[in-house]
Amino acid sequence: MKIITGIQSSGKLHIGNYFGAIKPILEYQEQNNELFTFIADYHALTTSADPATTKQNTIDAVVDYLSLGIDPHKTTFFLQSDVPSLMELYFILSKFTPMGLLQRSHSYKDKIDKGLTPNHALFSYPVLMAADILMFDIDIVPVGKDQMQHLEIAQEIARKFNNEYGEVFTIPKMIVNEETAIVPGINGDKMSKSYGNTIDIFQSEKSLKKVCSKIITDSTELGSPIDYKNSNLYKLSALFLNENERIDLQKRYLSGNEGYGHFKMYLKDLIYSYYSDSMARREHYLNNMDEVYTILDIGAEKANSIAFNKMKEVRKAIGLGIR
Ligand code: ADP
Ligand code: TRP
Repeated sequence: MKIITGIQSSGKLHIGNYFGAIKPILEYQEQNNELFTFIADYHALTTSADPATTKQNTIDAVVDYLSLGIDPHKTTFFLQSDVPSLMELYFILSKFTPMGLLQRSHSYKDKIDKGLTPNHALFSYPVLMAADILMFDIDIVPVGKDQMQHLEIAQEIARKFNNEYGEVFTIPKMIVNEETAIVPGINGDKMSKSYGNTIDIFQSEKSLKKVCSKIITDSTELGSPIDYKNSNLYKLSALFLNENERIDLQKRYLSGNEGYGHFKMYLKDLIYSYYSDSMARREHYLNNMDEVYTILDIGAEKANSIAFNKMKEVRKAIGLGIR
């Protein structure tokens, strides 16, 4: 199966991102799939601020994902802007994109409602996303609920093209991440950058300690059993534990021997040790950016070679060029 994940870098990664979006990619890596993972920096331009921030966000995304376990030997890992023929396909696909299809896009409407000034790139965002997927003959795209409509648009564009020119594109299927496990934030609401309630993955032990100490708990006093089932602190800790370890922790919550203060520091230790290898890898990559560039070069070469052949097929199908 060919599977693709596009990552639009949007700042610091938190543990909600890890369990909702990153861990599933790592699991796909361990199965026998042909995996493509890329940083969608063209897409980021649709809402970006200044060049320095755009560049820094891209570097952070590349380094963070590599550090968290994206393995360039198991997935074709590349930067979208290193494959410029995506732009060509995006324009060609635009011809097969009825205006109404884009006008109905929730994501576009939401962004305008939030005060972004409408521009054409923002409007045509889903066509570029279709190009990302159709270029590589992808079978499956894992998506969050917010991306389902974009996937439907990609399917519609592919069908329209194929109806006119034969079976040029694979119609991609989606696997919807139902977010069965929504990671709670430190105040109990869904963890999200927008709510300011995140526990970031990459931070010093000291600041992690500070964040963990802010996790909201009830007023059970030391000496009384704690209801772990309704505790966000417990839910967050459980993410990092196997079944036996969870049972042990449940017993500790019920024993009354320890209070929330102890369990907050226990969570801090869990998180810190879970990501310690990733943190070391991140330090390494940041100090050896040449290695990162080489990884991206190899990914770009693979992606470009597939794109080159696909574009030959597409150009021929529509009669573009005369040689
Ligand atoms: P944020 O809400 O912090 O802005 P994003 O929208 O950038 O996060 O999320 C990127 C991906 O991370 C989403 O596709 C989603 O699957 C996952 N994700 C984000 N927050 C959570 C969460 N609290 N629980 C589970 N998954 C999450
Ligand atoms: N739009 C996706 C998001 O915001 C990112 C993305 C761009 C993508 N191109 C893609 C995802 C292709 C999957 C396939 O999360």
